Amino acid sequence: MSDWRNRVFCEDALAGMARIPDASVDLIIADPPYGLGKDYGNDSDKLDADAYLQWMQQWIDAALPKLKSNGSLYIFLTWRYSPEIFVMLKKRMTMINEIVWDRRVPSMGGSTRRFSSVHDTIGFFANARDYYFDLDAVRIPYDAETKKARSRSIFVGAKWLEIGYNPKDVWSVSRLHREHRERADHPTQKPLEIVTRMIKASCPPGGVVLDPFMGSGTTAVAARACGRDFTGFELNPDYCALIRSRLDALDAETAVSGIEQQEKLRASSAS
Ligand SMILES: C[S@@+](CC[C@H](N)C(=O)[O-])C[C@H]1O[C@@H](n2cnc3c(N)ncnc32)[C@H](O)[C@@H]1O
Repeated sequence: MSDWRNRVFCEDALAGMARIPDASVDLIIADPPYGLGKDYGNDSDKLDADAYLQWMQQWIDAALPKLKSNGSLYIFLTWRYSPEIFVMLKKRMTMINEIVWDRRVPSMGGSTRRFSSVHDTIGFFANARDYYFDLDAVRIPYDAETKKARSRSIFVGAKWLEIGYNPKDVWSVSRLHREHRERADHPTQKPLEIVTRMIKASCPPGGVVLDPFMGSGTTAVAARACGRDFTGFELNPDYCALIRSRLDALDAETAVSGIEQQEKLRASSAS
């Protein structure tokens, strides 16, 4: 086993990227600081616009060679800098989708001089035409009511009705509010549902996902739960500890469900 897979490197992604061999990762999921002044316990989100865009270009240049030729990249952005960053990436990769993450923010007052922004902009880019993409792994099953409504003879036996639908490019998934069971102590933690979809669609089983800005470790947790490897960087040591504790909790959960499974099997074979 290589010494960079399934590791959380508590260091600057720019400095650490040399640890990852070129053309070795299947997928990059990047959730960099947004240039909006958020507090990650460091100054990483305090750059002015020019310095921010320059830094974005720097880590993109360092990260892209790590991708395999059929690899892809998802990048979480906001409307504020997504136009500039999409242009940067389009010079190097093929843009496959702009995904809108509707964070399902409830309607409460909001801005008075503009429309309230309630979405994240996610760019999905691929290295080449033959990029890995497993749509079947992320199809959304039709509910019983919809299936029933499509019971006319022209729909009978329709494969798409059985295998579920394409999730489309607007993903409506609740943000992790304070009481959410998944919520950890990180200001911009992403929901596992979103990151899991990216991994299942764009990283083959047993493959490896690179997350240069791990935060609370959502990519690492989702990758391990899906049978993929991960690697990545995080500047803040408290967040590095948080990632390790989320991974430990997942391992403990997996062990318990394995034991329960074995007990059920034993009980059913004894009866
Ligand atoms: C938007 S958050 C990532 C959140 C993460 N996706 C999650 O679900 O928890 C960005 C993270 O990048 C970290 N960061 C900022 N600059 C960094 C750098 N140069 N190298 C490594 N990590 C960095 C910040 O400390 C912060 O935790």
